[in-house]
Amino acid sequence: MCGIIGYTGSREPREVLMAGLQRLEYRGYDSAGIAVQSSVGADVIRSVGNLAALREAVGLAVGAETDSAAGAVGIAELPSSTGIGHTRWATHGRVTEANAHPHCDDQETIQVVVNGIIENFATLKNELVAGGSAFSSETDAEVVAHMVAAVYDGDLVDAVRTANRRLEGHFAFVAMTANQPGLLVGARHECPLVIGVGEGECFVASAVPAFLDYTRLVVGIEDGEVVAMRPEGIEITGLDGETIDRQPTEVDWDVETAEKGGFESFMLKEIHEQADAIAETVADRTVRADGVDLGDLGSIDDQLLREISRIVIVACGTSYHSGLIARYAIETWARVPVEVELASEYRYRTPVVGKNDLVIGITQSGETRDTLAAMRCARDAGATVLALTNIMGSQAEREADGCLFTRAGLEIGVAATKTFSSQVAALFLLAIRLAELRGSLEEKQLSDLVAAMKHLPHLVDQTVAATEETAMEIGRRYAKAGFFLYIGRHAGLPIALEGALKLKEIAYVPTDAYAAGEMKHGPIALLDEATPVVCVATDSAVLEKIVSNVMEVRARGAVVIAVETEGSTALEGIAEERIAVPATDPIIGALLAVIPLQLLAYSIASELGLNVDQPRNLAKTVTVE
Ligand code: F6R
Repeated sequence: MCGIIGYTGSREPREVLMAGLQRLEYRGYDSAGIAVQSSVGADVIRSVGNLAALREAVGLAVGAETDSAAGAVGIAELPSSTGIGHTRWATHGRVTEANAHPHCDDQETIQVVVNGIIENFATLKNELVAGGSAFSSETDAEVVAHMVAAVYDGDLVDAVRTANRRLEGHFAFVAMTANQPGLLVGARHECPLVIGVGEGECFVASAVPAFLDYTRLVVGIEDGEVVAMRPEGIEITGLDGETIDRQPTEVDWDVETAEKGGFESFMLKEIHEQADAIAETVADRTVRADGVDLGDLGSIDDQLLREISRIVIVACGTSYHSGLIARYAIETWARVPVEVELASEYRYRTPVVGKNDLVIGITQSGETRDTLAAMRCARDAGATVLALTNIMGSQAEREADGCLFTRAGLEIGVAATKTFSSQVAALFLLAIRLAELRGSLEEKQLSDLVAAMKHLPHLVDQTVAATEETAMEIGRRYAKAGFFLYIGRHAGLPIALEGALKLKEIAYVPTDAYAAGEMKHGPIALLDEATPVVCVATDSAVLEKIVSNVMEVRARGAVVIAVETEGSTALEGIAEERIAVPATDPIIGALLAVIPLQLLAYSIASELGLNVDQPRNLAKTVTVE
């Protein structure tokens, strides 16, 4: 759960590394560091905190070099500028400068940056310590530097390949040594590593945006491969050293997509991008008026979708909430039973799953450790596994029998917004496709749903426009409340859960979310005049029931903030605050309600002066258990 970057070429390496880290900061941001080759070794600068701290340290160090012969002269003498950088999200070892990357062996021969976890690091470390190595950090990553150094005899590529064979876990790393100036060597196992090829320069990173300002020619690296990068080009070799010929492909991502585009934060920008994200996800799949085409789902063909007897969804966090909504759509429209499971729990049960089950792993990053493990567990038991992810080439895609992509673009804000709504949209499409294949809906019902999905981006845009001001205003007014309760029923319940999670994670306000019908079985004891109760009350067959639940809340003096469907009068004179979203199919309409809840959380976090894009203790990609 870290970001790594490397550069070799003729540019000022610190600038390239810092710019790359900036774009990778969403992957981890509790400490960071860079190392730049000099003729006398490597200048290493590390700091605790987000990149601003490192930038300051690098700025000072660069300034200081005018008077420091070692740094400036050493770099100037080299034929190329070469360096590596890292932004960290702590797993093994506290957030300290000593634990920040880059790491090196005790002779400072090899510098490395590592993403992921070396699972057998304790065994390796014991061996290395017994052999006389001295460690300077608490990290698992440092063993990589020592392992490479231990077998280095003048050929870094060989040393990386040999060391790599001993490493277990999921990781990607890049190594360099001043003994071979201009050379970077990278390897990976289940963690991303991509190469950017420029004219007389090379980049390597955890993700493409890190070098998108410099080149669009990208080469992917597979598990077990070792890549040597020099300014003049790259050489990829396989496990046994055989050369692999792989040509770069050109990516068409716009650098703009990685920037805030005029909004005050990535999260706000991404909330506004939801209509586009859904439009992209839905577009070519709803060309037919009478059904949905999901495209290539690998080995998951129509026959299989007709025959499966059950769907099991495994996911974490916000993606789990997408699964919960999907259950209502799939069961109502396609009449296939659905179970939705937290991946972290599922993987440690002995779930009953088999060849008639379709297991869907939902993960926007495609790298969430628990979700991947749950998918593997189901696949091992004979189930067919479909991945729903936003990231092409991610581990989830590689490991599944088929993959359905959301097309939300890069999501930088740590709190999922546009990836969530795109996931739900994609799952709605799957539900419609299942209904079509299994004949569970009348033609008219099918075509109404397809039409509603086509129209959804427009409704999302309308919802953002219609609710932003009100939700922000309400947020400012209730920002000081110490606790919020969220309630909902039917497809509105997962939306309540998601709204509560958003508020918790970005505003650090304690929340609970409950099925409204369960209030009287416990949570109602929490309520008093100071408690705002956020109620998802969009049109549905259970709206009347929700109204009764809201009355129970009002009777305890709590304040009700309701999200309802435009034109609804059910909560008139009952709810203090009312936010309306456009009318559509009741299940699809529940999704619209998440938008004012995202905005409400956003407004409260902003009012409290918090960094909404990088909430404390969280990271965008959770590659640890
Ligand atoms: C919340 C959030 C997390 C993720 C969870 C799963 O806003 O982003 O709860 O949803 O960590 O992540 P993915 O979808 O990448 O598997």
